[in-house]
Amino acid sequence: MAEESLHKASPDLFAKGRGALEQVDTLLKEKFSAIELIFLAVAVFIAIRLVSCSIREVFSLKFEEIKCKIFRLALFIPMVKNEVNKEVQKMESDCSKKYSDARKGKTTPNLPNQGVARNDILAKVNGFTAAGKKHYAEGGFTCGALFTKDLGHWDFVADVMKDCITSNPLHIDEYLYVTQMEAEIIRWTLDLYKGNENTCGIVTSGGTESIILAVLAYREQGLIERSITKPNIVCSETVHPAFDKGGHYLGVEIRKVPLLKNFMADVKAMKRQIDSNTICLVASAPEYPFGNMDPVEEIAALAQSYGIGCHSDCCIGSYINPFMEELGHELPSKFDFRVPGVTSISCDPHKYALGPKGCSLLMFREKRLREYQFFANTEWNGGIYATTCMAGSRPGNVIAGTWASMLSLGREGLKK
Ligand SMILES: Cc1ncc(COP(=O)(O)O)c(C=O)c1O
Repeated sequence: MAEESLHKASPDLFAKGRGALEQVDTLLKEKFSAIELIFLAVAVFIAIRLVSCSIREVFSLKFEEIKCKIFRLALFIPMVKNEVNKEVQKMESDCSKKYSDARKGKTTPNLPNQGVARNDILAKVNGFTAAGKKHYAEGGFTCGALFTKDLGHWDFVADVMKDCITSNPLHIDEYLYVTQMEAEIIRWTLDLYKGNENTCGIVTSGGTESIILAVLAYREQGLIERSITKPNIVCSETVHPAFDKGGHYLGVEIRKVPLLKNFMADVKAMKRQIDSNTICLVASAPEYPFGNMDPVEEIAALAQSYGIGCHSDCCIGSYINPFMEELGHELPSKFDFRVPGVTSISCDPHKYALGPKGCSLLMFREKRLREYQFFANTEWNGGIYATTCMAGSRPGNVIAGTWASMLSLGREGLKK
């Protein structure tokens, strides 16, 4: 049709165009065989695709990423490189001065040939820990790290851990009691988070691992149920860096939305970031940087309206959130399995359940989502190898210490 109308509108132009095309055609036929022509066409197609993808990639870069790229390029300029190197060297020497001064006279650079007497070692350890103990016994705080100053509590937890020092839940037959403790910690916490008989969980080494495994579960769910190969997670910019870490390890884009002027998560902007590759939304309850509770109910409802999951990050809220209502404090949002769209929750007993470091929970609304992050190898010549989280062997004594801490506090002790 187009050819016909061009012919009618301008017969001369049409003839010239057709002549030029015929010349190109004969030239190509003279120079290349049919196979070479096919290869040439494929190569041109690939080149066009690559150029268009790179252009698209450049335009999809965020301002911060562009700044980063420009900075990296600037490092090729010798003057800039020298200035940056000078600054890095200064930071390195400040750092090493600060820490090596503090370590002077306390290090053992070479492993001794003969073992050192146990009493001498204990004395050395007491020396290491004295300053820290003095700091918190005298009223000092270590935010996000130390959650009770009750030395009696730590003595008790340490006694339990000592008794279970060799335990390893990887070897379930030998350490059945540890897996029992693990199951109990999970069920107690599911109850606090208003779970039911379908909700379930796993124990991990910390909030970061719980979050990374949540990213894995949603990534696998997206791949298996929706064939998503370029997954992204949408969240507020205050989410814990564990999400960036998970995204980095697992090839998931973490799309962060700037805060509103009142420092709260911007749910409308989150909605604008969702696309067909979004595997879940995140709500922090609360977030670490400012301590605000994201509107979990709103975010979870948004996720539900798109048929995707919502992770409620209760790592720092852990064993405080569930008691706020009972204690008469109104929270801006519910955060637990009462919220219909919440599909997973991370919660850390090594924070406000006063357990030893190295214990967190990742809880799921349904067993199917939990299965997406399990790993099993049934063909290994060492036997069937299956684990619930990232680690293989795990410190059963940490689980025992957590279990004992929670049991000794009870609901009332946690509430205090
Ligand atoms: C909201 C939130 N998420 C995740 C984490 C990570 O926890 P962890 O340090 O146990 O890996 C923290 C730690 O403070 C946190 O506050």
